[in-house]
Amino acid sequence: MIPPSWVDLDGEIVPGDQARVSVFNHGFLFGDSVYDVIRTYDGRPSRVADHLDRLDASAAAIGLQIPVDRDTLRTRIERLVGHGGFAESYIRVVVTRGDGAPNIDPSVAGPPHVLIIVMTLPVPPAALYETGVDVVLVGGVRRPSREQIKSGNYLTSVMAKQEASARDAFEGVMLNADGMLAEASTSNVFCVAGTRLLTPPLAAGILEGITRRHILRLAREDGVTVEERPLAPDELTGADEAFLSSTIKEVLAIASVDGRPLPACPGPLTRRLAARYGAWVRADGAAP
Ligand code: PDD
Repeated sequence: MIPPSWVDLDGEIVPGDQARVSVFNHGFLFGDSVYDVIRTYDGRPSRVADHLDRLDASAAAIGLQIPVDRDTLRTRIERLVGHGGFAESYIRVVVTRGDGAPNIDPSVAGPPHVLIIVMTLPVPPAALYETGVDVVLVGGVRRPSREQIKSGNYLTSVMAKQEASARDAFEGVMLNADGMLAEASTSNVFCVAGTRLLTPPLAAGILEGITRRHILRLAREDGVTVEERPLAPDELTGADEAFLSSTIKEVLAIASVDGRPLPACPGPLTRRLAARYGAWVRADGAAP
C-alpha cells in the first residue's frame, strides 16, 4: 500500500501513487542509486546540510553525478514539504542512475533522476521509548564493508529485518564478515558497560549515522568515556544497557538481545543521552 505522499520527480510535484520511473531504470534493475532520509521538527527539515553532505558522498563513491545543485535540492525539499502539509514529514531524497539497457554498465544509462518523497513521519509508538525494543543478533546475513554508501541496495538490511520479524523481534543487529557487531537494519547500535559508551567503528562496515555522530559528540561533551572499537557480539548481550539510533527513531532503548533481557532499559545513560539528543535536535539541530 502506497501511503498518502507527494513526490518531486525531476522538479515536478505529483501525488505519490502516480509517481513513476521506468522499469529500465538502473536503480530499479541493479540498486544503482543513492538516497538519504531527512525528517522535520516543527514542520522544518532538520540537519539538511548533514544529510545532503552524506548524499553527495554516497553519490561520489559510486561515480554518480547529482544533476542538480544543492540550492535547487534544498528549494525542492522545502517546496515539497510545504505542498505535503503533513504535521511532521519523512523526506526521502533519491538519486537514481537513469534508464537504459539492462546492462550493469552505468555508462549505458541515461541521465540520473532526482526524486524526493514526502509523507507523514512514521515514528515508533511513544510506549516503545519506555519499554524499549527486543533485538536479535542476525545469523542469516553479514554486513559487507561498503555499507558507508547509502545506496538503493539494502538487501542485507531487508534480510536482517525479515529475520528479526520471524524471530518476533523489533530489529536485527547484523555482524560483519569478522563476526563483530555492525549495525541494525536502519539504525546504529550502542552499548553501555559501566559508565562507558561503546559503539562499533566506521571500519566495522556501518553507515555513519548522523544521529550517531551527534550522540557521540554530546556524550563526549558530557564527559562520558566513549569507545569506538570493534565489539564482539557478547558485549551487546552482556551490556548493562543498549540502544539504537537513527534520524527517525532518535534514541530507542534495547530491552533484550536474543530473548535475554538487559539489566536496565532504558538505562540511566540511555535516558540521559536520549534527553540530551532530543533537546539538541529540537533546538540547534533544527537549524538547516
Ligand atoms: N537510515 N544504519 C543504517 C543502515 C541506516 O539505514 C540508517 C538510517 C542508520 C542511521 O543513520 P541516521 O542516524 O543518519 O539516520 C544507520 C534511514 C533513516 C533510512 O534508511 O530510513
